[in-house]
Amino acid sequence: MIYKKNKLTIEKLDIDSIIKKYKTPIYCYSLAKIKENIRNFKNYFKKINPIVCYAVKANSNLGILREIKKNNLGADVVSGGELMKALKAGIKPKKIVFSGVGKETEEIEYAIDKNILLINAESKSEILEIEKIARRRKKYVNVGIRLNPNTDAKTLNQISTGKKENKFGVDQKMFLQLVKLVRKSKFINLKCLSVHIGSQILSDKPYQKMLNAVNKIIKKSNYNFEFIDLGGGMGIDYEHNNSKLNFKNYSQNIERFLKTNNSKIIFEPGRSIIGNTAILITKIIYIKKGYNKDFIILDTAMNDLMRPALYGAKHKIIPIKKTNKKSKKSYEFVGPICESTDTFSTVKNYQKLNEKDYLIICDVGAYGMSLASNYNVRPKPIEILVKNSKIQVLRKREKISELM
Ligand code: LLP
Repeated sequence: MIYKKNKLTIEKLDIDSIIKKYKTPIYCYSLAKIKENIRNFKNYFKKINPIVCYAVKANSNLGILREIKKNNLGADVVSGGELMKALKAGIKPKKIVFSGVGKETEEIEYAIDKNILLINAESKSEILEIEKIARRRKKYVNVGIRLNPNTDAKTLNQISTGKKENKFGVDQKMFLQLVKLVRKSKFINLKCLSVHIGSQILSDKPYQKMLNAVNKIIKKSNYNFEFIDLGGGMGIDYEHNNSKLNFKNYSQNIERFLKTNNSKIIFEPGRSIIGNTAILITKIIYIKKGYNKDFIILDTAMNDLMRPALYGAKHKIIPIKKTNKKSKKSYEFVGPICESTDTFSTVKNYQKLNEKDYLIICDVGAYGMSLASNYNVRPKPIEILVKNSKIQVLRKREKISELM
């Protein structure tokens, strides 16, 4: 996405031309960017040659999943619904891993019947449930156990998953117990140790700590895991100030880890594949004078993009036409929803804006549409995919009549 003669463009298209065709708000993705991210990801970890399972929760649009498939990624799913979508997109079962703390019986049955690569179990109860189902079906089921490495991912608290107080995985003691238990089972084939410490991680240090914890537990368990699933969590540059995870260091640390562990690495990246591939195009409905600032009231809201309200996350907001006029007042960008948390950001020294101007909210590809809701009976936005100078509608705008 770049400005050409002060007008914002995505691939070969003017944002202006998109607005003429579709009513805002619009989730607009770039195919070139998706491909570039996948290429880069594979390159960063070339020496490791991992199995890359895209985390479907980040964006589960079927059209997006089809592109992910075309680029040879597998899938990491966390529900029967996500599994069904991944399969529908054509992703091979042998490239799908299933994570999550609360898999229900029917979901486990479905995963077993589809012969997916791995079910990553997160508790003793779940292991027992998988064993029960596998016994009924007389199958030998491939399973991983998720370790809670008690590692602080140093990211937002709400999206941290690897500390002992979090609900995810099992602690070291339980992990060793489960390895013993599963070794004796005729129905569970223990193949994987999995771990995922959190999301939007920008430093390689927590990952190094995680690897140390994994190394330690492997030695203690005296078991050769065919797969080590290191989860996802690689952060992206929301601030547009080049804050970036040092993939080279992370990769080198894994290479070192693999010198003493003969396993295949699995990754489950979501945000790093899809996060910066989309923008949310929005119109200013009104500008309202407030105390010490002006409210820029947009036609998009927290129901379309939940991250700012939910985590205090920041997304850059930029105008589709650049001018040199500056506003004297600060702007607070808000949506029309009846909640004070329906606010995106407050910015000083912004370019002067007018009612009916268009703006874009950046980097909304991950956990944007997948977290969207119909709060306030608001229809979900249209999603489109830009391919060079062409547009594919990925999902139509919901009609209010569908919400009755
Ligand atoms: N694997 C597991 C087991 C996960 O729980 C997650 C994300 C991922 C992989 C993918 O993580 P990623 O590479 O996308 O960071 N809604 C929040 C993020 C929640 C992440 C949940 N788990 C947000 O908008 O920041």
